[in-house]
Amino acid sequence: MRFFIAALFLYVLLSSTAAYDPLDPNGNITIKWDIMSWTPDGYVAVVTMNNFQMFRHIMSPGWTLGWTWAKKEVIWTMVGSQTTEQGDCSKFKGNIPHCCKKTPTVVDLLPGVPYNQQFSNCCKGGVLAAWGQDPVASVSAFQVSVGQAGTTNKTVKLPKNFTLLGPGPGYTCGPAKIVPSTNFLTPDRRRKTQALMTWNVTCTYSQFLARKHPSCCVSFSSFYNETITSCPSCACGCENKHKCIKPESKLLSVVGVNTPRKDNTPLLQCTHHMCPVRVHWHVKVNYKDYWRAKIAITNFNYRLNYTQWTLVVQHPNLNNVTQVFSFDYKPLVPYGSINDTGMFYGMKFYNDLLMEAGQFGNVQSEVLLQKDKDTFTFKEGWAFPRKVYFNGEECMLPPPESYPFLPNSAPQSRAFLTTFIFCVAFVFLTMM
Ligand SMILES: *[C@@H]1O[C@H](CO)[C@@H](O)[C@H](O)[C@H]1NC(C)=O
Ligand SMILES: *[C@@H]1O[C@H](CO)[C@@H](O)[C@H](O)[C@H]1NC(C)=O
Ligand SMILES: *[C@@H]1O[C@H](CO)[C@@H](O)[C@H](O)[C@H]1NC(C)=O
Ligand SMILES: *[C@@H]1O[C@H](CO)[C@@H](O)[C@H](O)[C@H]1NC(C)=O
Ligand SMILES: *[C@@H]1O[C@H](CO)[C@@H](O)[C@H](O)[C@H]1NC(C)=O
Ligand SMILES: *[C@@H]1O[C@H](CO)[C@@H](O)[C@H](O)[C@H]1NC(C)=O
Ligand SMILES: *[C@@H]1O[C@H](CO)[C@@H](O)[C@H](O)[C@H]1NC(C)=O
Ligand SMILES: *[C@@H]1O[C@H](CO)[C@@H](O)[C@H](O)[C@H]1NC(C)=O
Repeated sequence: MRFFIAALFLYVLLSSTAAYDPLDPNGNITIKWDIMSWTPDGYVAVVTMNNFQMFRHIMSPGWTLGWTWAKKEVIWTMVGSQTTEQGDCSKFKGNIPHCCKKTPTVVDLLPGVPYNQQFSNCCKGGVLAAWGQDPVASVSAFQVSVGQAGTTNKTVKLPKNFTLLGPGPGYTCGPAKIVPSTNFLTPDRRRKTQALMTWNVTCTYSQFLARKHPSCCVSFSSFYNETITSCPSCACGCENKHKCIKPESKLLSVVGVNTPRKDNTPLLQCTHHMCPVRVHWHVKVNYKDYWRAKIAITNFNYRLNYTQWTLVVQHPNLNNVTQVFSFDYKPLVPYGSINDTGMFYGMKFYNDLLMEAGQFGNVQSEVLLQKDKDTFTFKEGWAFPRKVYFNGEECMLPPPESYPFLPNSAPQSRAFLTTFIFCVAFVFLTMM
């Protein structure tokens, strides 16, 4: 129990101090403004959002972008997106701006809008794929025509206080910075043109800002021990336990019960962990030179289909992945040399949709790994992942002393204890 509390303490401490993600240290969303032309009272800019995060995407209902104008700017027109509110444009006669708010809030258009309202890379309902999964779909763009603004690169004022919701909280954006002007190729690719001025804004994600509790948990089992180590109880918080639904409940046959809510409130199946997602890792087979693990992801939310889901696993043997069945796999090498992290995701049109809770709400795969003679062991829980992320959110692991142990190996292994004490001591030392 003491170790569990220590682990929890460590977890809270690390997630609160981590300004960046250790498994994706360069991950960010960059918002780039390219001024394409000056107008009599302002400029026309193309705003491009690039999701440079390897395994975190922005799911439906999509991103919301906001900022504060530096002066009295207004938005005359937008192509490929819109503001949620027009604001007070009563000062204007004749031509009425699209938005007069000091802090406009912009959302993407839905797919299928008329052609003349579209812009390249627009109109995806705000969905941005993870860069590691689909770089082409990780871009979103729109055009904005700004009035009552500076009309030269000396007089224009950069917007301030950028905010990005994706769709919930978690992103923090830095200030806009003037960067070298973007170069563009003409459609025939024979001529290069250049933006008149460019600025960038970088936004990074922190799970700690996004939510109080984890949103997924991990359970373990193995062929060598009958124990199934389940997810920690209340891993995702039990405050809403009274609202959960039993799988046999009649409420589930009510029409519209699965309809997603605007604020994405989940409708969870009752479990002791109360997580919307559980990842199960089963150590399945031991061969002479290889071993095999089975991975199952289960959705317990009746109101959400996970599109383009991702699963990131950190395990020292992932440098010798031989085969991955029924999922796509990509090694992530965040630090160049340490190859212990990889990303699993669904195969397009096969299992890239993790369906709402119920009969079909799970996806499964197996992975075949070659044993590294120097390090491989079934002892001390070595065969279980060190970290697991679902959709870019770190999942809660069971406490180490509860892992299924190889018969005859000491349950609370010395190695685990030593590392743990070392970690705790280290944290205390760095805090002083
Ligand atoms: C944003 O991500 C890109 C791609 O990983 C990286 O090149 C760039 O340096 C990052 N920007 C910041 C400010 O971290
Ligand atoms: C600005 O953002 C773009 C992506 O939109 C990126 O390619 C470029 O490297 C960024 N520039 C700087 C200086 O960060
Ligand atoms: C502004 O434009 C002038 C020429 O039009 C150019 O020399 C200068 O570098 C530009 N400044 C910025 C900050 O883009
Ligand atoms: C930045 O924007 C947020 C949300 O729109 C607002 O709460 C905050 O007060 C703003 N900060 C400044 C300095 O304008
Ligand atoms: C999930 O997707 C399936 C198939 O596209 C659809 O029938 C179902 O209504 C969706 N559920 C939710 C909660 O959106
Ligand atoms: C990392 O390991 C994978 C096998 O899982 C291998 O395909 C890849 O080449 C390795 N990458 C590096 C940089 O060592
Ligand atoms: C495992 O991978 C590492 C580097 O990724 C390589 O040096 C080593 O030979 C591999 N081991 C086996 C048993 O293939
Ligand atoms: C299986 O693992 C558990 C720890 O989770 C341990 O208490 C038990 O002794 C192990 N079973 C055997 C047969 O070793």
